Amino acid sequence: MKKIIKNLPKAELHIHIEGSLEPELMVKIAKRNHKKLPFNSVEEAKQAYQFNDLQSFLDIYYQGTNVLCTEEDFYDLTWNYLQKAKEQNICHTEIFFDPQTHTHRGVPFAAIITGISEALKAGKEQLGISSYLILCFLRDLSLESAFATLENAIKYGDKIKAIGLDSAEKNNPPSKFKSVFEKGRAAGFLTVAHAGEEGSSDYIWQAINLLKVSRIDHGVRCIDDPKLVEYLAKMQIPLTVCPLSNVKLKVFNSLEEHNLKILLDQGLCITINSDDPAYFDGYLNENFIGISQALNLTETDLKKLINNSFKASFLDPRDKEKLYLN
Ligand code: ADE
Ligand code: ZN
Repeated sequence: MKKIIKNLPKAELHIHIEGSLEPELMVKIAKRNHKKLPFNSVEEAKQAYQFNDLQSFLDIYYQGTNVLCTEEDFYDLTWNYLQKAKEQNICHTEIFFDPQTHTHRGVPFAAIITGISEALKAGKEQLGISSYLILCFLRDLSLESAFATLENAIKYGDKIKAIGLDSAEKNNPPSKFKSVFEKGRAAGFLTVAHAGEEGSSDYIWQAINLLKVSRIDHGVRCIDDPKLVEYLAKMQIPLTVCPLSNVKLKVFNSLEEHNLKILLDQGLCITINSDDPAYFDGYLNENFIGISQALNLTETDLKKLINNSFKASFLDPRDKEKLYLN
């Protein structure tokens, strides 16, 4: 099974580029930017990566992002992930970035988007990996800040495919961002949103009805509402599920208790993703291997999950056709 997983080409649709910042690169970038880190070695950093919930992770994650300052930093970060993606046989990736985390520290939006985009261009040319960028608004910041960020997104609209919503979910419902998503859709962006990771199934309904999302990121709490499960299956609204992340952030106690096989068997378009691989002990293949072993997935399940990754992507239908496994 491991060999099959490693060898099959696949798409990744839920990866925060800042969450791919490995401690080794963090230390290197901190040094060249004369930034202090809260730990003294790579080993110490890894030991600190123990989380109780989403917020305890976000506190450490945002601390790590503080080292990223220049266009070169964003290029190196993205290039590092793309090399890893190549090793894992990822042929297409749709990458989140969190500009407010950086612009709020004085980093110019241009440095962020240019660094990431240049690396993605090199990824296409040198590694054959196609990609789209998804700008996420931080839902624990204000609506005004999201609108200011959307202005930047519109300026660089040719480099951004979709807008999304991430960060601390509880008490930051999708409804808070209805107006900024409306403006974003009018400007031509597709939409996605993290919903039903820690938050209630009602947040998934809000993301669908108010933000008009093409996909739900996580979405595993849909299981609390049978009508919602039925609707997701009927409409084939994909869920970008992140098994290792869900265990690390205690959404489930173990991979064995994960509900993705139940949802898959109910006909939902489930995809497997890594979320923040540098923090959660694994990239895409480790997620596939871990969940396959824990839930006894069959080769048919695996192929379904991989084909779902293409089906749920923002690729052209004609490009998708070429990627589907038989
Ligand atoms: N930002 C990075 N990873 C995230 C996650 N799992 N949930 C919400 N926001 C995030
Ligand atoms: Zn995420």
